[in-house]
Amino acid sequence: MPTDARLDMRKFVRPALRSVRSYDPGPSVADLAAQYGVDGLHKLNWNEDLFGLLPGVGEAVNLELSRAALYPEQSYSDFRRLVAEWAGTDASSIVPAHGIQALVLAVASVFLEPGSKVVLPAPTYGLYRQACAAAGAEVVDVPTRGYRLDLEAMAEAARGATMVFVCDPNNPTGDALSPDSWSRFLDALPDSCVAIADEAYADYMAPEDRPDRMADVRAGRPVVVLRTFSKLFGLAGLRLGYAVMHPDLASCFDAVQEPFNVNRLALAAGTACLADPGAVEARRREVAAARDQLEKSLLELAIPSWPSQANFVLAEPGGDDAAWYEGLIRRGFLVRPGSEFGLPGHLRITVGPGELMTRLASAMAEVRDELAGRSRPQEPPRPG
Ligand SMILES: Cc1ncc(COP(=O)(O)O)c(C=O)c1O
Repeated sequence: MPTDARLDMRKFVRPALRSVRSYDPGPSVADLAAQYGVDGLHKLNWNEDLFGLLPGVGEAVNLELSRAALYPEQSYSDFRRLVAEWAGTDASSIVPAHGIQALVLAVASVFLEPGSKVVLPAPTYGLYRQACAAAGAEVVDVPTRGYRLDLEAMAEAARGATMVFVCDPNNPTGDALSPDSWSRFLDALPDSCVAIADEAYADYMAPEDRPDRMADVRAGRPVVVLRTFSKLFGLAGLRLGYAVMHPDLASCFDAVQEPFNVNRLALAAGTACLADPGAVEARRREVAAARDQLEKSLLELAIPSWPSQANFVLAEPGGDDAAWYEGLIRRGFLVRPGSEFGLPGHLRITVGPGELMTRLASAMAEVRDELAGRSRPQEPPRPG
């Protein structure tokens, strides 16, 4: 097809969309394994759960399958009530969705108009930029300071802004905000600006260490909290999340989301996850112990890493992160090279069970030695 025909088609598209780069998930695991000639790959690149389903989830999903022919109940009232109780808020504040990704797009469509200003930390989760750019918003980046969100600079940059995204703990740094720093930030935000707090990884923190954003919502502060079942609860493939917000905003979200946006199996699985708070807490501790183990191994390998509150660790082996990425793939581990999010020389590594982390540490030691050997100056050729 001539290129001109494609250009003609794009003139029908909203101007803001024409220059937006869509998300590129990269090659599949099967393609990568074939390309590098390995049998399989441990996926440590997307911060998925690697610890297995929580008790009762498999059974609940199997049971719900017999109702697959029916649309999910539109208002999700049982799920809203259950999640509200779990989160410590009112059911009227809960907006279910098929994951935070869907909610990020909904947030953009509820709050943004072409030309609206949005403040983002840099680096942070990449979808915020895509969603805001697609809505025609102007994005202002505020660089992190030594991997910490620079909340003062973000509040300053928020003058005249409609929205600010705060990812807490932040992806890809794993850094979390203290309750005090969050409160000061909210106080410093201009009246025009709503704060979107992405708590995808907050479940990995002890509740007492996290800012109480449910209290902010109850107090009528301009805060929308995004949560997911994809991380600690291990349901990334089923797609389930929810937002917590002032009830007056909830109906606006209902207007921009599809009426039957969450599927029955996801609802059944999410409900089963929340049935046993003891199992959730045990899982949180298990992941934290494996994360500590990985951080300790990195220290022993003399590879700096930033203390993480999430299910991943940002390591800085230095040098060429693409070479590290390839070296680890050849040894069966798929990690995320930092260059993809503006941090060359870094790797973002998802935390898995302890035994897997032990094998990863051995693979990293091998790659380190291999790359050190490769970068040693070559011996000059012997004469004759
Ligand atoms: C900060 C952050 N928010 C949201 C998501 C995606 O969440 P969900 O699976 O609920 O769409 C991710 C996935 O990696 C993430 O890192």
